[in-house]
Amino acid sequence: MKKFLYILLFFFIGAVVVIAGFVGFLQIRGIPRYPVEKFELTVVSDSAKIAHGAKIASVQCIVCHRGQDGKLSGRFLNELPPDFGKIYSANITQHKQTGIGGWSDGDIYYLLRTGVKPDGQYLPPYMPKFPHMSEYDMQSVIAWLRSDRPEVQPSEVNKVLSEPSLLTKFLCLVQFKNFPINKAPITEPDTNDLVNYGRYLIVGRYDCYPCHSADFKTLNQFEPEKTGGYMGGGNRMVSLDGKERLTANLTPHKTGIGDWTEDDFRNALLFSKSKNGQSLRDPMLPYNGLTDLEIKAMWKYLLSLAPIDNSVNRNWEEE
Ligand code: HEC
Ligand code: HEC
Repeated sequence: MKKFLYILLFFFIGAVVVIAGFVGFLQIRGIPRYPVEKFELTVVSDSAKIAHGAKIASVQCIVCHRGQDGKLSGRFLNELPPDFGKIYSANITQHKQTGIGGWSDGDIYYLLRTGVKPDGQYLPPYMPKFPHMSEYDMQSVIAWLRSDRPEVQPSEVNKVLSEPSLLTKFLCLVQFKNFPINKAPITEPDTNDLVNYGRYLIVGRYDCYPCHSADFKTLNQFEPEKTGGYMGGGNRMVSLDGKERLTANLTPHKTGIGDWTEDDFRNALLFSKSKNGQSLRDPMLPYNGLTDLEIKAMWKYLLSLAPIDNSVNRNWEEE
């Protein structure tokens, strides 16, 4: 009996040493770095590209990067689930020292595609990657970052360093990796092919699926459809005022948008009204720049998905 207890103790101590060693390793290693390939790109800007880039950025970048001075000077992301750590978005204005004024077009493109900064530092999932965004959309975002629009003019606010949690470091070791840089240009599907164009908008241009699937921890950005509970909602979010908010099921099931019409969908996107008349709350934003074609295409695509039975508690009564 005594011998058995010794063996047990031995294994217990062994396990503690292994776990402590691993935690120490994660702390020291931190968020990984990757080798950077030089990426040559010169974005030729024009007013159409800048306007298009501003429209994409209004829902894809500004939400997270707008700081106290109204420019994209960065802020504390209090709406992130605390398990990610204390995370601050960066100053991405044209300031040469505090912002990204010293980056080349290629540096920005490379980061947005792969998640790797010019110094090799990888950015965890709270900074989204855009591996499926088309060349035109991507170049439009870069043209906007370089433009004379007020929000991207140099801001002197210094970047606050994020403090990613152990969980974030662990996930960056096992699950979230840098994306390969695309060798061929990424094109948009023909706008006449509504279902495919709709998929492009949800996966590539507007990135609706990470929020609208089950959990960021099971996000698959390589193959979006393999994300846990793809478009079935239920992802736990925190609103700007600190309330828990679950995302809606957008599949054609009665617990999702199965009994909705295209008009209901349009009202939700443009005017933040749900079918039951309630106002949609953050982090769901009004997408008021969407065109009729974009709305129709996303609608047709959502109807083509397999229905998921997931009744999400929306906490309507709390408002
Ligand atoms: C969900 C929030 C979020 C969104 C949306 C977002 N970012 Fe970020 N971004 C971050 C965070 C957080 C960091 C800093 C991460 C860190 O270093 O800890 C960051 C870092 C960056 C950096 C690196 C800056 C530096 O000096 O380290 C660039 C460039 C950038 N973002 C550009 C963009 C652009 C362009 C868009 C839109 C296409 C965008 N981001 C959308 C959260 C976001
Ligand atoms: C940052 C996360 C996030 C992103 C990105 C996002 N949504 Fe949402 N969405 C939510 C949340 C959270 C709700 C629930 C809001 C509420 O309950 O008030 C919601 C609600 C909705 C609803 C209302 C459904 C209902 O039953 O009331 C629709 C429709 C919708 N989103 C469509 C989209 C589309 C299309 C996109 C991309 C163009 C998108 N969302 C992007 C978080 C997001």
